[in-house]
Amino acid sequence: MCKILVLLLFSFCFFVTNAIVCREGYTLVNNKCIAFLPPYHNSGYYTSYDQCNDLGGNAVSIRTAIDNTAIAKLAINKGYLDKIWIGLECWEDNNPDDCIWADQQGNASRYNNFQPGNPQIDNGKCVYMIPSTGKWVSEDCFSSSITIACETDIIGACTHKFGDYCYHPIIGRMNHDEALNICEQMCGGSLVSIHSPEENAYIHALFNDPSIYIGAKMSNSARNYWSDGTNWNYDNINFSNINDGQCYTMSRDDGKWNSRGCEEYLSSVCKWKASSECQATCTGPKYREETGLITLLTHQLSYIQYRGVPPCYYVLHVPNGSAAIWFDSIRLDSKSSIEVYSDTGNSTPIAVITSENEYSKGSITSSGEFIKLVFNQCKDNCDVTRLYWWTAHFGMNYGARCGEVLYTNGVITSQNYPNNYPNNYNCTYYIQNPSGTRPMQIHFDHFETEENHDFVNIYNQQSGVLYYSLSGNLYSNATYILDALCQSVRIEFTTDGRNTFSGWSASFNPWYY
Ligand SMILES: *[C@@H]1O[C@H](CO)[C@@H](O)[C@H](O)[C@H]1NC(C)=O
Ligand SMILES: *[C@@H]1O[C@H](CO)[C@@H](O)[C@H](O)[C@H]1NC(C)=O
Ligand SMILES: *[C@@H]1O[C@H](CO)[C@@H](O)[C@H](O)[C@H]1NC(C)=O
Ligand SMILES: *[C@@H]1O[C@H](CO)[C@@H](O)[C@H](O)[C@H]1NC(C)=O
Ligand SMILES: *[C@@H]1O[C@H](CO)[C@@H](O)[C@H](O)[C@H]1NC(C)=O
Repeated sequence: MCKILVLLLFSFCFFVTNAIVCREGYTLVNNKCIAFLPPYHNSGYYTSYDQCNDLGGNAVSIRTAIDNTAIAKLAINKGYLDKIWIGLECWEDNNPDDCIWADQQGNASRYNNFQPGNPQIDNGKCVYMIPSTGKWVSEDCFSSSITIACETDIIGACTHKFGDYCYHPIIGRMNHDEALNICEQMCGGSLVSIHSPEENAYIHALFNDPSIYIGAKMSNSARNYWSDGTNWNYDNINFSNINDGQCYTMSRDDGKWNSRGCEEYLSSVCKWKASSECQATCTGPKYREETGLITLLTHQLSYIQYRGVPPCYYVLHVPNGSAAIWFDSIRLDSKSSIEVYSDTGNSTPIAVITSENEYSKGSITSSGEFIKLVFNQCKDNCDVTRLYWWTAHFGMNYGARCGEVLYTNGVITSQNYPNNYPNNYNCTYYIQNPSGTRPMQIHFDHFETEENHDFVNIYNQQSGVLYYSLSGNLYSNATYILDALCQSVRIEFTTDGRNTFSGWSASFNPWYY
């Protein structure tokens, strides 16, 4: 009796402290978050499928009878009594082996619930479910007026627990920064940090990919650190490739960590403390070092629809430099704002960005090594009818330090900016593409020089080809995306002996679509 009571108490605590959350509008059924999206423009399965993808989901994949029944019941509860697209496409009559699930994780041979005589390709390659019976029927993919069952990830489900931490594998195709952002929105987690051989073995058993990102990174000063800010007290580095890149991956073969570039698209593992943090509105500060991307949100999902738990604020640190932040893309709702501070305390913000002034999204530079960024997100009666997001980069403010070779994200300016630049002046910068694989983007926040006299020339440093020769006032036509093959550019600023203007300020970083 006593034992049972203790057990019950335990499971109750477990239930309370591991908040399992679906995004707004989605319902949790059997560890899946499901929403039914009514026919989109009445143009069939593929259009609805794309709409579900745009919301960060995928047409539902059903692998057990329990899931099938649960989804059928949910559809009925929500009033969808007719037909429901599921994420299955078939290529051969009466052969579920040749039906492929939308999550690309296999076919319907192990479980299916086809109505006798199906799949029937003459009727179409797509498949709907009849909620009242749970049976599956083939249908023309362009058949209109069918609702789709859209499935998204659970936020904060502690499906893999080791010690006091939850682990969540993210399968597939994100670069290091993108994966880190997703992890930060899972109960304020981060890419996994590893502190013992046992923990390393546990992570190693979680995935099948040849290699995955872990949270280990090497700074420009060759110091290793964890992206969650914990101590570097254990490592399993493969020392034969120590200088191949700044991010570490774990190998499937033996769990060794290999140094790799940060721009490859790989799977990864998130980690967060298995406490009640998921129920909080924010989860403590997030510390990031040197350079990078921070964002709410990726995947075209509005931060309003996404009920992950973001960090309370970000602290961005650019060692030995002046820190700068710039927004690549931003659309705020009228009830949210972003405050930017020059230090980690509660001084006066150096900038407050709202929906009123977001168009003036030039770079914001700190007087010191730190920037603190606070996102005050709309809490009540938020506008859910439009998409809202922001993405920002941070890096070094190099200012007007002529002759320098720059390796990482940052901001450069003309001499004396925003005051007038000198006459008879010549300054050259060399910028190495910070990503090996992505095109480089140079964005001029401001550009005003004497037209046809004072030039900014952008060259491919290897081939010598002149990409752009800029002068005058660029107004808003100021983003230049250089081709991915260009690994190094030279930027020359030359002025003649007469007339000066306020000059220019430019941020550069890898280009994200
Ligand atoms: C279907 O999946 C099973 C394993 O789940 C696999 O053995 C089989 O080869 C697959 N069939 C096809 C046609 O891909
Ligand atoms: C260690 O690095 C070397 C060189 O890149 C590579 O050939 C080898 O496979 C790596 N070892 C493991 C266990 O990943
Ligand atoms: C910062 O500068 C000092 C002095 O120049 C140098 O010793 C130190 O290594 C630098 N630290 C980093 C992280 O670059
Ligand atoms: C500016 O300086 C660079 C490097 O010293 C030189 O190659 C270039 O010819 C100079 N340009 C002008 C217009 O003086
Ligand atoms: C913007 O810049 C591009 C590239 O330099 C140029 O081709 C285009 O004509 C410019 N557009 C406007 C409106 O100035």
